[in-house]
Amino acid sequence: MMNDGSAIHRSSLIVHRYSMTTRILFVCLGNICRSPLAEGVFNHLAAQAGRAHEFEVDSCGTGGWHAGELPDPRTQEVAQQHGITLNRRARPFERSDFNDFDLIIAMDRDNVSDLLSFSSLKPDHRAKLKLLREYDPHADGSLDVPDPWYGGMDGFERVYQMIERSAKKLLESIPSPLSQRERGRG
Ligand code: 4NP
Repeated sequence: MMNDGSAIHRSSLIVHRYSMTTRILFVCLGNICRSPLAEGVFNHLAAQAGRAHEFEVDSCGTGGWHAGELPDPRTQEVAQQHGITLNRRARPFERSDFNDFDLIIAMDRDNVSDLLSFSSLKPDHRAKLKLLREYDPHADGSLDVPDPWYGGMDGFERVYQMIERSAKKLLESIPSPLSQRERGRG
């Protein structure tokens, strides 16, 4: 069995993994509001489920204006209110991310368009690209996580709730390597 992370095949929301970790990249515009929150929430949920060791999680922005900055203070505040500390600094998306990650999870359709415009994507790269709210059980039409940058704390809390609901389902959609091996034996 190949063990270089390339032997990964995806079908819809089902992930068939032969490597021990799934590498997930959350993407928004500035990487100071939505995607660092999604990164922190996913890590928190994975840790609560005893599955932190199964994942490598990162986030980035399609724009680089905030590179090197900590998350927006409102992002940090809403995360803190839910018991999550965010301390990673913003970075811009790089083309190599499409090779380095198994799942690229965008916050809105503009992010998806920007990501698609960065390169002529190979089909396996396109298959890695999802909207976070594809996993939201309460999604009601729009699959965007709206940009909370110009609003107040209520918008950040709404965004937090969307991210948490979606991240829970995303986590559940990725089988743990152990349960896959057990199924293989059965
Ligand atoms: P984010 O929010 O994409 O969720 O990080 C934004 C942060 C900053 C800007 C836009 C959106 N900005 O224009 O600087």
